[in-house]
Amino acid sequence: MLVVLKRDQEEVGRHAAHFVASAIRRKASLTLGLATGNTMVGVYRELVRLHREDHLDFSRVTTFNLDEYFGLSPEHTESFHHAMHEHFFSHVNVNPRNIHIPDGAIAGDCEEYCSAYEQAIRDAGGIDLQILGIGRNGHIGFNEPTSSIGSRTRLKVLSEQTIEDNRKLFAAGEEIPQCAITMGIGTILEARRILLLASGEAKAAAVAKSIEGPITSSVTASALQLHPDVTFLLDEAASMALTQREYYMKVLKMTAMLTPSRLT
Ligand code: F6R
Repeated sequence: MLVVLKRDQEEVGRHAAHFVASAIRRKASLTLGLATGNTMVGVYRELVRLHREDHLDFSRVTTFNLDEYFGLSPEHTESFHHAMHEHFFSHVNVNPRNIHIPDGAIAGDCEEYCSAYEQAIRDAGGIDLQILGIGRNGHIGFNEPTSSIGSRTRLKVLSEQTIEDNRKLFAAGEEIPQCAITMGIGTILEARRILLLASGEAKAAAVAKSIEGPITSSVTASALQLHPDVTFLLDEAASMALTQREYYMKVLKMTAMLTPSRLT
């Protein structure tokens, strides 16, 4: 595990975008796992800039989003479909055929749909690089506390805290989704590389528990401790509750000296 510390959310977003860009430059046909949410907005802004100004080519990239609210149509302005097109897909050259986002409006058998999503990931050769945010309760994707480490893509009931955090995004009086389709912890752990981003004080406790606490289904991001290639990219505020902050900074310095390519 590598812990990378940056000053603020903007630096986190920029660094994450360059991390993704160098992965695409190394492998043009990258399979990229994507997330939505406030933390990701700066990442997509910088990726769009790199596409426009530095010719970053997404034409062979395949994407899989982590999750989508259940019961929202893709056209709904708060759906993750909408956010992904608004912030990213409509500005870059990802082939629409290679874009995968769980369908929150499926009419048929949800379990079957989720198994097909897992199969599509396998058919694409597995996820090379998965980008994650983290919830205040330590969730990754919408794997709320109590999600098992082996969980796969499925319908998950959202916690009260997550529903509360989402409330500000929806119009007053509008019904807020109670469930989401999300990749499972087991699905996420199969990605070859994982980059988790966190910024802001509200995430500090969850970040510290995930990195330094025991592996527990109460903080599902703690399962990332089991992954052989995970980077936590944090701003100052999100790293505040870490007890080993100085040590992570030393490790980072030494790692940069020994293996500079890992950090680009
Ligand atoms: C969204 C997702 C969630 C968010 C998390 C943080 O696709 O998977 O786990 O990453 O809730 O959201 P923000 O960045 O809005 O604080």
